[in-house]
Amino acid sequence: MNLLVTGGAGYIGSHTVRRLMEAGHHVTVLDNLSSGHVEALPPGAAFERIDLLDFGAVRDLFGRVKPEAVVHFAALIEVGESMRAPGRYYRNNVVGSLNLLQANAETVKAPVVFSSTAAVYGDAEVTPIPEDAPKGPTSVYGETKLMTEHMLDAFERAHGIRNVKLRYFNVCGAEPGGAIGEAHPNKTHLIELALLTALGQREKMMIFGEDYPTPDGTCIRDYIHVVDLADAHVLAVQALQGGAASSTYNVGLGHGFSVKQVLDAVDAVITEDGLPPLKREIAPRRPGDPPSLVADSHRIQGELGWTPHFTDLKGIIRTAWEWHRSHPHGFQK
Ligand code: UFG
Repeated sequence: MNLLVTGGAGYIGSHTVRRLMEAGHHVTVLDNLSSGHVEALPPGAAFERIDLLDFGAVRDLFGRVKPEAVVHFAALIEVGESMRAPGRYYRNNVVGSLNLLQANAETVKAPVVFSSTAAVYGDAEVTPIPEDAPKGPTSVYGETKLMTEHMLDAFERAHGIRNVKLRYFNVCGAEPGGAIGEAHPNKTHLIELALLTALGQREKMMIFGEDYPTPDGTCIRDYIHVVDLADAHVLAVQALQGGAASSTYNVGLGHGFSVKQVLDAVDAVITEDGLPPLKREIAPRRPGDPPSLVADSHRIQGELGWTPHFTDLKGIIRTAWEWHRSHPHGFQK
């Protein structure tokens, strides 16, 4: 298929572009490069440096490329920053998505795979969380993703644009081999920060809150490997290509690890390489963080046949370690 992938130069986007191209699709990447890297794109991917806030440019692109499906990643993704700069998040994530949907509706009406998040659930009462659990984002970031889900529903009702919403849990790891991986300009993700600390780029790891209602007092998350997540997108595109109705899927492994358990696993990986364990310090809670987010992913496994291959936390961290060790400054030489 002829696909348009927004945010395809980013971390999850670039891993997914590779899997989509391996599956035989032709890919055009739209990215404003605010946090993505052209170096992350595989040869053969067409690239357009466009900002979704530029409606005219986006509409023009739809007219030129005529995509048969759209995979929409482009968004700001930091929970903490979204609480400090809500305007930036609503504008970029909600208005940007609206421009994409409107340009699509005015041109090709291609089905959309949307990059949503576990953050739409907020403080979930049931764990693991099923897709129909109540929504109540505790962050502006989660709110912008939920608003975009609602817009997708409205554009389906009005224009017949089908969608698959993938609610990601905590994405981590890197393509084995170390060619691409996480390289955010602002580093906030636990595993990336821990591995850069191991490389000596930071002095210690801060644990944001030790007083959560969890067994060890630190937040619990469901850590899913980026390549398994990329595969979920390939399956979602195939389903839409086959005429599947719109649907929403959680994508996670179904078991959670606390911040301390993740840091223990990082220590296990880095000490195997002769490095000392990380220094840790307890810090106050980070605003917007729910105590626990663990996926019930039975729906995507049953309906799309999705099967995660990276199920061992240390193994997942090892793939990220391979990337960071070989690219300590990301895509910069
Ligand atoms: N954490 C620390 N110290 C750090 C960094 C993170 O203790 O230095 C903690 C956080 O407070 C949180 C956990 O580690 O409890 C995971 O934090 P991340 O920043 O790695 O990930 P988040 O859970 O905040 O968010 C990620 C993505 C979101 C997505 C969410 C879904 O950034 O886009 O997972 O679960 F919505």
